[in-house]
Amino acid sequence: MTNEENALYYADYLELEKILNSQHPKTAHLPNGAGDEMLFIVIHQAYELWFKQIIYELDLVNGIFTQDDINDNSGDMSNAVHKLKRVVKILELLNKQVDILETMTPMDFLEFRNYLVPSSGFQSAQFRLIEAKLGLKMEQRYKADYYKHTRKGGFIQSDFDAVNQAEATSTLKDLVIKWAERTPFFDAELWKEYQSQYHPNDDSADKFWLDYKRIYQDSLSANEKGRLEDFENVFFKEGRGEFSAPAMRAVLFIMLYRNLPIFQLPFELLSVLIAIDELLSNWRYKHILMVRRMIGMRVGTGGTSGAGYLEGALSQHYIFKELTEIATFLVERSRLPELPNAVKDKMSFNSR
Ligand code: HEM
Repeated sequence: MTNEENALYYADYLELEKILNSQHPKTAHLPNGAGDEMLFIVIHQAYELWFKQIIYELDLVNGIFTQDDINDNSGDMSNAVHKLKRVVKILELLNKQVDILETMTPMDFLEFRNYLVPSSGFQSAQFRLIEAKLGLKMEQRYKADYYKHTRKGGFIQSDFDAVNQAEATSTLKDLVIKWAERTPFFDAELWKEYQSQYHPNDDSADKFWLDYKRIYQDSLSANEKGRLEDFENVFFKEGRGEFSAPAMRAVLFIMLYRNLPIFQLPFELLSVLIAIDELLSNWRYKHILMVRRMIGMRVGTGGTSGAGYLEGALSQHYIFKELTEIATFLVERSRLPELPNAVKDKMSFNSR
């Protein structure tokens, strides 16, 4: 119970004193005042607050996946998916926020733009942390040189270190790959009764995949036949990107049989990761359009080539592209092989 003296007060709880006194336009002293610089500051601060929440959720999700044994139908898995869906909602909002800033005209922006040099959104350590915690690595970045902390418009040492540290810790992508590799659906025991359509006398545990490969082959048009070699590489040799071949097989299997109860959450997980990638790309694209509209082809305040750099980042900074590439290897549902009972039992909700 609180008495009147120490009753919690709204503004204190939210520390509004600090937050609402943290907008200091560099052009406030000019005869016409700060103009749209206030909006510019508020928008960026709102972004940074939401970035903070996204990082909070990603840390929680990464913590869940760091456990050795995460049961696909446990509360943990549904909690992870739930939090990632929240990240999706936040990213949708962040995409919308661009529209508010676009009510500022290029001339309004010019009024204060030069005061910002050499700072830039490029230096948003939280944005970099989100990318890194999801799984984007320094060497995969477009113009990786820009990220060296020493350049003008780059990071201060502590931000640079924090981003590197996040990269070096297990990222969501690393953890999802390990989770996929651990899926227990391909134990030879489970596949003993499997009736192979095309290899009835083959006794190996790979019968299912041999059948699938054949079905896939039949689904290819004459000018797509090269895909078969790709299939072999992706699912049985090298894997794709950072996903090993066993991880890619597990992901394909989940996508194919997503109607099975046990695959509902895993399928939602894969879908939400694809959605996060898509929304980040949408944001990058909207940001580029805004940048073109505001500064045309001029270089950025942070010293990159501006729209040119941002277009490179847009096309290169996909994090879960291996997951979208799976669509290349799907077949019609009606052609899917019937699964043996042992596998179906393993995949019912009460099996573990
Ligand atoms: C007038 C509006 C804006 C303009 C003209 C603008 C311009 C730019 C430019 C030119 C860059 C490339 C780096 C550089 O050389 O400066 C950049 C990067 C960036 N900006 Fe903005 N920006 C604007 C608004 C925003 C807002 C509201 C945010 C929200 C946080 C933001 C976040 C970022 C981020 C995160 C990057 C790095 C993107 C990446 O590397 O993929 N920008 N911006």
